[in-house]
Amino acid sequence: MNNNKSIIETMRKRQSVRTFDTKNIDDSHFQFINEYLFNQSNLIGPFGGKSKIELVQVSGNVTDKGIKLGTYGLIKNPRGYLVGLAENSKYSLLDFAYCFHNLLLHLTELGMGTCWMGGTFSRNSFEKEIEIGEGEFIPGISPIGYPSQKQRVMDKALRYAVKADNKKSWEKLFYDASFEVSLAKENAGEWEIPIEMVRLGPSASNKQPWRLVLSADRTVCHFYIEHTPNYSSKLGYDMQLLDMGIAMCQFDLACRELKMEGQWLADDPKIGQTNEQIEYIVSWKKFSH
Ligand SMILES: Cc1cc2nc3c(=O)[nH]c(=O)nc-3n(C[C@H](O)[C@H](O)[C@H](O)COP(=O)(O)O)c2cc1C
Repeated sequence: MNNNKSIIETMRKRQSVRTFDTKNIDDSHFQFINEYLFNQSNLIGPFGGKSKIELVQVSGNVTDKGIKLGTYGLIKNPRGYLVGLAENSKYSLLDFAYCFHNLLLHLTELGMGTCWMGGTFSRNSFEKEIEIGEGEFIPGISPIGYPSQKQRVMDKALRYAVKADNKKSWEKLFYDASFEVSLAKENAGEWEIPIEMVRLGPSASNKQPWRLVLSADRTVCHFYIEHTPNYSSKLGYDMQLLDMGIAMCQFDLACRELKMEGQWLADDPKIGQTNEQIEYIVSWKKFSH
């Protein structure tokens, strides 16, 4: 990784890429991915669970084994896919999403394109390619390659359909001490950028289910999910937990770059939630020196 680059700037620029250039992946970039995945510490999430991520190379969506990986025409010219495997439980989905997103951001930093996908791909076809262990399933995948200069009509239509460029305002997402009062950016102090990175992160159908409450004494930030009712029930897992793992990753990476030190704690502060879709997930507590 080029350490002169700012991961915060990368998070600001990242967008889902669904149309790729026909250029092959540079050897050095392949090597980066393989080394990244070989280093087991990159696969351990904030709750301590270990995820699996596999790289599959494709040419015209067909793998070396001759299997055609299906994405319903949404992805054009990918050079490969990253395929995730996890158990279908709350903390393993959070850990997986955190690790997977961390890798996707590193690839974005290298100039590659990625797109989180939880729904619009044929799980069947990927299951044929990947060896799946007992109790595991594929919570998400991402195509990889270099972004094409030209977007297809399909890309624009999809962005329009999910209002991908319409990120919710601070007022709707972030709260000051309790859910009664919204957090004003100018009152967030050093927390402003990490919180803003949560806002800019990708989420399934751009639902942006994360809600944050910053404590009155500015020492802890509590993470909640506001579930979209029945969002992914047909798929048999809660895809919005992936959005939360992604939010944790965006927040954490920003804190590290800003040299804000702290840790994740699962310690529900029992702040009164304003509706029953809101569920406490985790808190990030600053170290007191
Ligand atoms: C967990 C998750 C699942 C997603 N699943 C899909 C998918 O199945 N198909 C797709 O085209 N995009 C999918 N997306 C991409 C979102 O639509 C996209 O992140 C969102 O619209 C915001 O756009 P942006 O990533 O360009 O900021 C998914 C994103 C996340 C985080």
